Amino acid sequence: MADKAATLTYDNKSIDLPVLAGSVGPDVIDIRKLYGQTGAFTYDPGYKSTASCESALTYIDGDEGVLLHRGYPIGQLAEHSSFMEVSYLLLNGELPSKDELDDFTYTISRHTMLHEQLATFYRGFRRDAHPMAIMCGVVGALSAFYHDSTDISDPEQRKIASHRLIAKMPTIAAMAFKYSVGQPFLYPDNSLSYTGNFLRMTFGVPAEPYEVVPAVERAMDRIFILHADHEQNASTSTVRLAGSSGANPFACIAAGIACLWGPAHGGANEAALNMLREIGTPDKIPHYIERAKDKNDPFRLMGFGHRVYKNYDPRATVMQKTVREVFDALKVNDPLFETALRLEELALKDDYFIEKKLFPNVDFYSGVILSAIGFPTTMFTALFALARTVGWVAQWNEMISDPGQVIGRPRQLYTGPTERDYVPVDKR
Ligand code: CMC
Repeated sequence: MADKAATLTYDNKSIDLPVLAGSVGPDVIDIRKLYGQTGAFTYDPGYKSTASCESALTYIDGDEGVLLHRGYPIGQLAEHSSFMEVSYLLLNGELPSKDELDDFTYTISRHTMLHEQLATFYRGFRRDAHPMAIMCGVVGALSAFYHDSTDISDPEQRKIASHRLIAKMPTIAAMAFKYSVGQPFLYPDNSLSYTGNFLRMTFGVPAEPYEVVPAVERAMDRIFILHADHEQNASTSTVRLAGSSGANPFACIAAGIACLWGPAHGGANEAALNMLREIGTPDKIPHYIERAKDKNDPFRLMGFGHRVYKNYDPRATVMQKTVREVFDALKVNDPLFETALRLEELALKDDYFIEKKLFPNVDFYSGVILSAIGFPTTMFTALFALARTVGWVAQWNEMISDPGQVIGRPRQLYTGPTERDYVPVDKR
């Protein structure tokens, strides 16, 4: 793979470092032997210039605003595909035939129920617990219930664990919602689609039949597609790092959920809607834009900016379109959408945002849609976790199947005290 080399001169010595080329994207300088050859480490705390792995799943060109899953542009997948099909694609590398898709959908639907004892687990949480706290706990606990799919050296067990995680996530998320509102849990109904079933388990009640609104089902499915994978983001890297030690998949995904919860990552959709509510009306926007630009003010425009996209996030384009579809289907018109559109317009004209290449990201509009569908803000990140599970699982499988896989173990630039002698307490 290496037909180029980079030369590094350090400590009066020059060494050649191989340069690897992917199928598309920047070249990658291979520094694996750097420490052995020079005795020096590299320093890159936020991994801004570091590729942590080789992957064939997802490609992002942040400057051009491109996102591809297994080569297919996200816009095309959101328009023509389904979440089940994108899940198959991420897991298997190719789009399924009709029979393969039917088989996959059937298999997933046969894993939607949770072990009955897990329902008692929920009762240990406070009713006002954040759904992400419940998700971390319950997903981690799956490893205590599904022992027959925790042997990571067995490809068949890995496959079953992957299917279980994708299938059970909607049930787990819906139960977290039901618990918070004091309504009975609903069992899955496998006659419905993956997404229709999730909507019913969330918003249905046992006392009456639940009608899935096709436009909402389609919008929700599209939201799941938009969140399915996003290459080596913080939570995916967390899943890979946890998995690199040989931890079981349920534990790894629980670690991913914990990482996703943060407001700089998956928690941004909740934070973005809260911010829009705080801004309220378009006349207040200039004040908040000024606050976002003020280095002495911790306020940031939530749903704006991205580590990788220095252009419009292609997922935000689809999200913005989906808002209108949901509003039309549900005959709602949340004035916050107008506030969001105006905020985007003003920010994109402002020199600060232009110079720093800050554009709306996937989370800017998702809160407005999810709120119109009826989800409380606390559920937003749980929905992100539900959809991202397939990406996490696909990335985890890719890593475990890689014969060159080793435990992830970064080094550090140590700045603490050098060796010194212990001083007894009466002498300090
Ligand atoms: N509002 C105001 N200023 C911002 C913003 C923002 N939303 N985002 C970045 N900046 C400024 C930042 O202050 C910095 O300025 P300076 O160079 O003068 O110090 C510059 O832009 C670069 O920012 P950074 O924090 O170094 O960039 P990063 O790549 O480390 O952070 C980010 C990316 C997403 C954490 C950040 O843009 C942010 O906090 N955005 C708001 C939270 C958000 O919407 N997160 C969702 C990300 S998309 C969902 C996902 O994939 O998880």
